[in-house]
Amino acid sequence: MPERLVIAGGRRLSGLVRTSSAKNAVLPMMAAALLTPDECTLREVPRLRDVEVMGQILTCLGVDVLAEPDPLGRGLTLVIRSPNLSTHVCPEWLMGEMRSSIFLMGALLGRLGQVDVAYPGGCSIGPRPIDLHLYGLRALGARVEERHGRIQAQARRLTGCEVHLELPSVGATENIILAAVLAAGTTTIRNPAKEPEIKDLAHLLNAMGARIRGAGGDPVVIEGVEGLHGAAHTPIPDRIEAGTLLLATAVTRGEVTITNVIPKHHSALLTKLRQAGALVETGPDCVMVRMDGRPAAVDCRTQPYPGFPTDLQPPLMSMCAVADGTSVITENIYERRFNQAEELRKMGANIRIEGRSAIVKGVDRLYGARVRVHDLRAGAALVLAGLAAEGTTLVEDVFHIDRGYDGLERKLSCLGAEVRRTRG
Ligand code: UD1
Repeated sequence: MPERLVIAGGRRLSGLVRTSSAKNAVLPMMAAALLTPDECTLREVPRLRDVEVMGQILTCLGVDVLAEPDPLGRGLTLVIRSPNLSTHVCPEWLMGEMRSSIFLMGALLGRLGQVDVAYPGGCSIGPRPIDLHLYGLRALGARVEERHGRIQAQARRLTGCEVHLELPSVGATENIILAAVLAAGTTTIRNPAKEPEIKDLAHLLNAMGARIRGAGGDPVVIEGVEGLHGAAHTPIPDRIEAGTLLLATAVTRGEVTITNVIPKHHSALLTKLRQAGALVETGPDCVMVRMDGRPAAVDCRTQPYPGFPTDLQPPLMSMCAVADGTSVITENIYERRFNQAEELRKMGANIRIEGRSAIVKGVDRLYGARVRVHDLRAGAALVLAGLAAEGTTLVEDVFHIDRGYDGLERKLSCLGAEVRRTRG
């Protein structure tokens, strides 16, 4: 039975809330755990549909995946052990459920020297090629063939090399790191992505015995080692979840402190919030935001980290929709990431799309409506708009949101929002 969120808008958010661990760190780490037959433990893993799907894919590969509630109530503890592994990643429908299944290529090639996967799926936000992933794996010496919708790759042992990425792709950087840790010799990735989740992946891999330097910067240098061992790790906080909650505070003109955050990961967003008129204060692991009046319009361009994250562009659009003035939002990472605009218009937003830019003329108020979620972050944008709107908003197809937010409605309710989930 499809689920929806019912939001009674107009409540000001206030209080304190804790961020979960980062989805985008956990998913490649689950693949990293396959690089050793020993036990790897991931702590405080968020309860997300994408984590569940990745767990199911690992189980299909013959991996033992044990998920237990975290002792402090912070999600799950995942214990992953893979003494015996299969190279065939199936079934295809599971692979098609999310983009991150592609990480299995690097990990399985590194561990077993061969892999057979279906094309990965993910959100419908424009073309998401994997050419850079395959380029990197080929550069490491893998023979890669694409046949009948599957990708097969083999290498007796991968060999370290220089890889220059044309674009700083997060996934390709991670996949190449996963493949290179057990390669013979040194791999240097130039123009890598610098997202904090890459540094965190390297932390886990180094704890497993890998030798990775420079992750989070340029270049990343990986000295191949003969084998890896088990390790335990708590992934970094989810900067996109925290950013969504900060923007939710701004749209409701509230005052919220978010804990379990790394403030320096948020500098691009905090700059925009300050430009919009919010008072922002940071502590060692928390951020407080207060928005006293109507937000001011802000212009924004999405960029690779440390620029403004594309994953926060849809929620930012909701803030701009109720801002005083006209904002221009330019999406530079994905071609079709304005799925939320049409739904926001149903709520009274004034948004015009011109190529890669959205021109958002702020309105005095949005009105509750029945809206549909088309992708994960567009879903977050609609929830934020619902919080700000007058009347009741029904957010349909909430399963997209469950892919990447652990208990969003629970967290918002703790802050005083009126959000509940219904079926049918
Ligand atoms: C990751 C994040 C996602 C975020 C994105 C950009 C995870 C699990 N997901 O996705 O939430 O939105 O970074 O910050 O970490 N590209 C190519 N060829 C490739 C790979 C990418 O052309 O082989 C292009 C993409 O089409 C896109 C851009 O590069 O335009 C960035 O994509 P990438 O950084 O790879 O995103 P993901 O790793 O898929």
